[in-house]
Amino acid sequence: MKILIGVTGSIAAYKAADLISRLKKRGHQIEVIATNGALQFIGEATIEGLAGRPVAKDIFEPGRMMDHVRLARWADAFVVAPLSAHHVSALARGEANDLLSATALAYERAKPFLVAPAMNVEMWSHPATQENIKLLKQYGARIIEPTEGLLACGEVGAGRMAEPATIEKAIAEALRVPKNIPVLITFGGTREVIDGVRAITNSSTGQTGAELSDLFHASGFEVSAIAATSAVMPIDAQVVAKFETHADLNDKLRDHLRAHPTQAVIHVAAVSDFSVDAIGVGERTFSPSAEVKLSSDNRMVLHLKRNPKIVNLLKEYARDLKLKVIAFKLTKSADPREREEASLKLLNSPGVDYVVHNDLSGAEQESHKRPFTIYSKGQPPLAVKGTQDLASILMALIAGESPRPRSDSREGVRNPEARP
Ligand SMILES: Cc1cc2nc3c(=O)[nH]c(=O)nc-3n(C[C@H](O)[C@H](O)[C@H](O)COP(=O)(O)O)c2cc1C
Repeated sequence: MKILIGVTGSIAAYKAADLISRLKKRGHQIEVIATNGALQFIGEATIEGLAGRPVAKDIFEPGRMMDHVRLARWADAFVVAPLSAHHVSALARGEANDLLSATALAYERAKPFLVAPAMNVEMWSHPATQENIKLLKQYGARIIEPTEGLLACGEVGAGRMAEPATIEKAIAEALRVPKNIPVLITFGGTREVIDGVRAITNSSTGQTGAELSDLFHASGFEVSAIAATSAVMPIDAQVVAKFETHADLNDKLRDHLRAHPTQAVIHVAAVSDFSVDAIGVGERTFSPSAEVKLSSDNRMVLHLKRNPKIVNLLKEYARDLKLKVIAFKLTKSADPREREEASLKLLNSPGVDYVVHNDLSGAEQESHKRPFTIYSKGQPPLAVKGTQDLASILMALIAGESPRPRSDSREGVRNPEARP
């Protein structure tokens, strides 16, 4: 998305740098308008370096005279952070004597316009400011309220600009067009208790599932996430339950699917094939329990029991055969044939509609480089690079659209990078 950021002359202007960097990481295109006041507080080099674009600052700059209209039309969302008391007043009165206020006036009111005021407590609570804020609300601005606390001026009260993470979230919500498609996403690794200090677990961080949850949320899907207690958490999507053991995840999935109509489950969770049945310590046998610590003086023998495959039970839990089930297969193998065999075996198991394969060798790559292959019944596999592309294809599959094949590679795997 294209986001226009306005920065004004407040001591909080340095926080705009963090906001720009967060929005860039989300893949947004950024343009920045800085007032003369703003440039007293934050360097132009910092803004340009982070945004990757020259800072727009002068309404009469040769070659950019129409920036106030061009930027207003270009933007999908306009965010002023921080918004000074002076510009609260200028925007409320519809002034147009600098680039920021002229652009705000030229901006279509149907598009999201967000402001994050930042000022001294008396400036914020002054009736003039509060009347101006009311006017801005009437004109369609969303006010990201300042918080209370110790202000930069040393006084205490309301006026501190909302944190960049809060502004980032408000922008994501403003850009979101809700779709009535409920999806359930599981992620993170199970942890099977041996005793109070020991457990059998795996190396899953939950990163891919958390990213998918946010990408689906941003695209308007109704996301319910069920995450391991130790997993990376999504920023925007809602985590409805947390799990620790296989049994725990199984119960939470079943309860959720029984109670909430769901169109698809994206089951990224790394689930243990075994849980601990009993522990032999010397001559004695114990049941697994987090309440005790078993002695390590003796030989310890773990007796494991096989867990049922949760992914095969999801349609049954939902009592809906139309539920789309997307399973994930992680391998640790350099051999493409082994990878394919493992993925096809899962694809052909009961209740699974699609399989997303990834290999440990790629799992540590940055999100936009991580390779995945999507297997669907009766279709050649589709290779994608990056969680964002994976999300787009899964969204199309869930919405019942067929993702466009890109180009065939030797193994019949479609490789997006080979596209002309
Ligand atoms: C050190 C310092 C800190 C300031 N902090 C703020 C502030 O947080 N909020 C605010 O509204 N004005 C603040 N001001 C006053 C504005 O910078 C001043 O009103 C300026 O004209 C606003 O410019 P602009 O709105 O055109 O960017 C501060 C001024 C100084 C010197």
